[in-house]
Amino acid sequence: MQKVSVKTGSSYEITIGVNVDFGTILKPFIQTNAILIYDSNLPKNKLLEIKKSFEKNSIKHSILELQTTGEDIKTLAHFESVTKELVKNHNTTRKTTLVAIGGGTVGDFIGFVASSFMRGIPFIQLPTTLLSMVDSSVGGKVAINLGHYKNCIGAFYQPKHVLIDVSFLQTLPKIELISGYAEVLKYGFIASKEFYHYLLQNAEIFKNFASLNKFDDLETQKYLITVILESCKIKASVVAQDETETNGIREILNFGHTFGHAFEGLYIGKLPHGIAVGIGMILALKYSKINTKDVLEHYKIVGLYSSINQYCVEENLASPNAEEVLNLMKKDKKNISSNIKLILLKTIGKAVVMEEKEESIKKFLELNIK
Ligand SMILES: NC(=O)c1ccc[n+]([C@@H]2O[C@H](COP(=O)([O-])OP(=O)(O)OC[C@H]3O[C@@H](n4cnc5c(N)ncnc54)[C@H](O)[C@@H]3O)[C@@H](O)[C@H]2O)c1
Ligand SMILES: [Zn+2]
Repeated sequence: MQKVSVKTGSSYEITIGVNVDFGTILKPFIQTNAILIYDSNLPKNKLLEIKKSFEKNSIKHSILELQTTGEDIKTLAHFESVTKELVKNHNTTRKTTLVAIGGGTVGDFIGFVASSFMRGIPFIQLPTTLLSMVDSSVGGKVAINLGHYKNCIGAFYQPKHVLIDVSFLQTLPKIELISGYAEVLKYGFIASKEFYHYLLQNAEIFKNFASLNKFDDLETQKYLITVILESCKIKASVVAQDETETNGIREILNFGHTFGHAFEGLYIGKLPHGIAVGIGMILALKYSKINTKDVLEHYKIVGLYSSINQYCVEENLASPNAEEVLNLMKKDKKNISSNIKLILLKTIGKAVVMEEKEESIKKFLELNIK
């Protein structure tokens, strides 16, 4: 079992293991009772395993299956129905712990419910997607959407504990694994040359796991734990320096996202977030004048796309033009002046925040998006 400390205003730990004993690990963090909350894609055998482990440890609990999946979880209407359910059927008090079992949507949503219900009740995260294990469950950002405005209503609210059982990944669809992997690679780019090289050297392990969803061998288990551990350590260290996004340090986590968000905006619902970020990172590397030969080779092995054009051809979508992409980049809420903020790399493992002139980004896009 591995541990990462997240040193924020109210600090907590992340535990990472394979086939963990849920009840034994979580008992110290539950005061009176717990509510296990998950979406319908949670494999039933894992739910049963969690329940049995809670029973074995005499933890009082009830279950609440969300009636929807994906971004539909993070709506105002759903917030109303779930909070009413907590009041009516679950004996929820200030000492009740909400246990969010699922991907980033369940974690963000239940975290927000916990942050606001009775002015704040405890919650625990059991992330079940690669993205939620390495990204959304670390750092305390919780939110719901307001129509198309993503994460518009939210808070910084830390969980009591995050428990990562890597075995959840065995049922995760391949596209979700590859999408989450883009965020993993991001940590290597922005903060650790060693981690970046580790990922490059072990690309085949990821490829085989993503194809078969099996880790009977210890090598794959060890690899997945290392990948998640290193990612959580890097995100935790960035977050600890800028918990509430006030001094700019947390901005480096947006590497690849300014370009990526623009593509997501162009192809709403058709381009998974991680794929968009993967393509955005290639552009950010090129803009940083970093040689992308090895990275492109790595993308080929792990199943990421090397350019938006390649994605559009495979998915039968019209390729974007530079003007459209630039317009969407200008709308990005993170721009405060007329320049566009980009996270660039000085070298692999060292990110910097730069303000770039619109004109130079336009020229760059014209050359790189054909
Ligand atoms: N809070 C943060 O700091 C932060 C950071 C990044 C992203 N996010 C948010 O995270 C969300 C995306 O999270 P996500 O990518 O995990 O998506 P998700 O929660 O929608 O999960 C993806 C899909 O996989 C299914 N699933 C989950 N676990 C599974 C498993 N073990 N086996 C089979 N299917 C499974 C889900 O039901 C869903 O259909 C977005 O809403 C985004 O805004 C938040
Ligand atoms: Zn992201």
